[in-house]
Amino acid sequence: MCLINLLLKKVGLERSITAGYTGHIMTEALIELAHVWKIFGEAEAATVAVRDVSLTIDKGEFVAIMGASGSGKSTLMYQIGILDVPTRGEICIKDHRISEMDENERARLRRDVLGFVFQQFNLVPTFTVLENVEVPMVLRNVDESERRERAKTLLDSLELGHRLDYYPNQLSGGQQQRVAIARALANDPEIILADEPTGNLDTKSGEMVFDILTALHDQGKTIVLVTHDPNLARRAERTIRIQDGAVV
Ligand SMILES: Nc1ncnc2c1ncn2[C@@H]1O[C@H](COP(=O)(O)OP(=O)(O)OP(=O)(O)O)[C@@H](O)[C@H]1O
Ligand SMILES: [Mg+2]
Repeated sequence: MCLINLLLKKVGLERSITAGYTGHIMTEALIELAHVWKIFGEAEAATVAVRDVSLTIDKGEFVAIMGASGSGKSTLMYQIGILDVPTRGEICIKDHRISEMDENERARLRRDVLGFVFQQFNLVPTFTVLENVEVPMVLRNVDESERRERAKTLLDSLELGHRLDYYPNQLSGGQQQRVAIARALANDPEIILADEPTGNLDTKSGEMVFDILTALHDQGKTIVLVTHDPNLARRAERTIRIQDGAVV
């Protein structure tokens, strides 16, 4: 467990945080947020997108995040995924304090521990399906034959073995999202962060994506899923509700 409590003690916040951590002392916290704020803009133009969020997600949990449009879910996911740094507060991922890391260290942690799946797929349009899945491994300097083999295996397991040389715009939405999942899995991350991965999909493709996330959870991965769909959220182990940037 990260030493957030000690850190906060130094700045006199230990009393307010202790309550939030009760019950998590003996578990294996993988993601910890302590009094995280994200404020865009300044003065009258300021938007508080994440408001004093403290939460813990343990290794192997499947957590759903729900909340109205604009409530701050994506911004929160960006903080958890260290794609962004909070305005205030501390985040620990696998016992690494984000505030103590430089951008290179954060990029390495992101690459090795986190896999992202977005609503808009975010595939590289000029790369083939196979090449898209290879990208995270190129960044890790995995040699060509090994990364090609792993990308093929992942795509096969997601029933895309027959689309390796297609380009993203030649695929259905559900297929594109499965490529995005294969890419997220390329470096075998412990944590999968999925921000409305079924939001652009029909019900059947959405179910398939959800089933894949469930299977990954069964394999031991920690899943954080943003969804508007209460039927999907209900099937997660725990739901975190966000309103006006705060956990409610
Ligand atoms: N880069 C930014 N600059 C300024 N404001 C931002 C920025 N990103 C988000 N916001 C604001 O922060 C608030 C939360 O946005 P966010 O995208 O996190 O909401 P969300 O819950 O993901 O919504 P949705 O369900 O529509 O995806 C919104 O008011 C938004 O306008
Ligand atoms: Mg969003």
